[in-house]
Amino acid sequence: MFNGRNSATPFHKTDTDLGALKERSFPGMSEPCFIVRRLGNPDADAFRLIRLESLQQNPNDFGSTFEKESNEPSASFVERFDRSTVFGGFVRERLMGIVGFFPLEGPKRSHIGVLWGMYVRPEARGTGLAAALVESLIEAGRERVEQIQLTVVASNARARRFYQRMNFSEYGLEKKALKYNGAYFDEVLMVRFLN
Ligand SMILES: CC(C)(COP(=O)(O)OP(=O)(O)OC[C@H]1O[C@@H](n2cnc3c(N)ncnc32)[C@H](O)[C@@H]1OP(=O)(O)O)[C@@H](O)C(=O)NCCC(=O)NCCS
Repeated sequence: MFNGRNSATPFHKTDTDLGALKERSFPGMSEPCFIVRRLGNPDADAFRLIRLESLQQNPNDFGSTFEKESNEPSASFVERFDRSTVFGGFVRERLMGIVGFFPLEGPKRSHIGVLWGMYVRPEARGTGLAAALVESLIEAGRERVEQIQLTVVASNARARRFYQRMNFSEYGLEKKALKYNGAYFDEVLMVRFLN
């Protein structure tokens, strides 16, 4: 199915209803390998499933927990589409990756956007889907903010490498930023300036 990132010949088009829609196909294939588009209310159940999977499979890599979110009502997942712009990556119509974005509030902070919830299912890693998700987020973010910040657990070497490749720079370290089951986790602060 996937030929790998480096052999990709991407093409893009725009969906005017829900924001950027990105399709990527590989040479010799008529069908796109994946599609990235903004998620909306009809995607709430699929979003809830993959979000809970991310928290369950990578409990140390997110600020939230499976225990907390699995007890939240379905409506709370729909509400996130109001507060955030959430992009989903689909392979044969199955949601395989997600990433969220929201701008900070307040007169002195609204030029900053935050990337959250980045997750790609293991079978779709290393395919370029993660990059397409972040590219969609950056495109949308350009219209609203001047920089995008994120935090990543310091021990998450793959994610740190991925964000570096996406032109995020590490600018700080928050020691013991998270505490989970009695263990502390440092978080690396990263930023990408958009201008
Ligand atoms: C983080 C994530 C979205 C990245 O997507 P991905 O498809 O795995 O990313 P890619 O394969 O495009 O890039 C990963 C990079 O890390 C490298 N890498 C892989 N394993 C690594 C490791 N153990 N240590 C360091 N680098 C590693 C890869 O070689 C690649 O770098 P390259 O482009 O220079 O070759 C995905 O791995 C994921 O969902 N992880 C679990 C959830 C998570 O950690 N989310 C981030 C929360 S901040």
